[in-house]
Amino acid sequence: MENNIGKDDINKLCDFLQGTDRFTQGPQVQAFEAAWSKWLGHRHSVFVNSGSSANLVTLLALSEKMNLPRQGEVITSPLNWSSDIASIFLAGFKPRFIDIDFKTLAMSPSLLETAKTPNTLAVLLTHILGFSGMTETMEVLLQTLELPLIEDVCESHGATYKNQKLGTLGLASNFSFYYAHHMTTIEGGMISTSDDDFYDLCRRIRSHGLLREAATTSAQEAFKSERPDLNQDFIFTHLGLNVRSTELNAVLGLNQLTSLDERIDRRNKNATQLYSQLNSDTFYTDFRFEGMSNYAFVIMLNPNQSQKWKDQAMTRLKAFLHSENIEFRQGTSGGGNMLRQPFIQKRLGPIDLADFPNVEHVHNYAVYVGNYPSLCEDKIQGFIEGLNGILS
Ligand SMILES: Cc1ncc(COP(=O)(O)O)c(C=O)c1O
Repeated sequence: MENNIGKDDINKLCDFLQGTDRFTQGPQVQAFEAAWSKWLGHRHSVFVNSGSSANLVTLLALSEKMNLPRQGEVITSPLNWSSDIASIFLAGFKPRFIDIDFKTLAMSPSLLETAKTPNTLAVLLTHILGFSGMTETMEVLLQTLELPLIEDVCESHGATYKNQKLGTLGLASNFSFYYAHHMTTIEGGMISTSDDDFYDLCRRIRSHGLLREAATTSAQEAFKSERPDLNQDFIFTHLGLNVRSTELNAVLGLNQLTSLDERIDRRNKNATQLYSQLNSDTFYTDFRFEGMSNYAFVIMLNPNQSQKWKDQAMTRLKAFLHSENIEFRQGTSGGGNMLRQPFIQKRLGPIDLADFPNVEHVHNYAVYVGNYPSLCEDKIQGFIEGLNGILS
């Protein structure tokens, strides 16, 4: 990755600091939320201090919306970020995992139907590294199974499904603006929804569960008149935390948003150059590129080759990346198979990894390498040639 904060971001921030006496949760946050909602195509957005906080507030809001169900499962995939799964647990739910599809790296639609149980409350679909995880099969199944959809778009800002932006396909969606993402507020995250009640819940949960954060004053007044015994400025209607961000981060977000589409185009151009030339005997190249907003280059060995071939090729791949000083992450998003992580095993007990062959392949035989707007064509070309030559 290269620095994602430009000189104009810093100038905007300095100008803002010179001219304001309000530093948190004010007009800049509101303006950023409105601009984000417009760019995305949802009615409401709630700015928080990280993508993880967006995950947590969303799952807590889901629990409140469903009246705190005692038992509840959320279907998700094991190629994920830790905060998605942590938020499922923290909201009092249980994750139910289904394996991934190589084409999208997201949960496999064909496994969705059998994963549904009477306790299933929702599907948490994480779109991986800029690929759209939504497919025709999944769209139909979500409708017929009547399952609410939460989208984690933290790695896929601007990606689309049937020309509609990811993050607008379900009840609510989450974004991260951490440093290396498509745009940044240094730290930051967003929850977006068009559901008025869900928006109201997220606003309250973001700020201690306070009634005074409710989306409408009429809701506030109605509740206050019901509870005259409470001190009216301190009514905590929901279980909440303080995960707000600041005016400073919102200033950055507003400025970065103006060039987001251009950054996405450049990242996609880089990815197209790479994937159109990668050797498809050595590497998997059959991803679903339609609607992509590439975050990073996924370099995955061909899953159809033998285990012995894959072990040797992986050793060569890593040796090449090390020798060229190219930073990479094995296992791609979140380090690969989350089912191997101690915090999950502690809660769910032993899990048979043989039930998850695709994510296991990613865990062992895939890496990602950073893609960023200023990456030049020549550098990518050298990278492609090096990759294609690892077995020669
Ligand atoms: C899919 C996904 N969800 C959630 C997060 C958490 O975002 P943050 O780092 O802003 O907390 C990340 C982080 O990169 C992510 O990739």
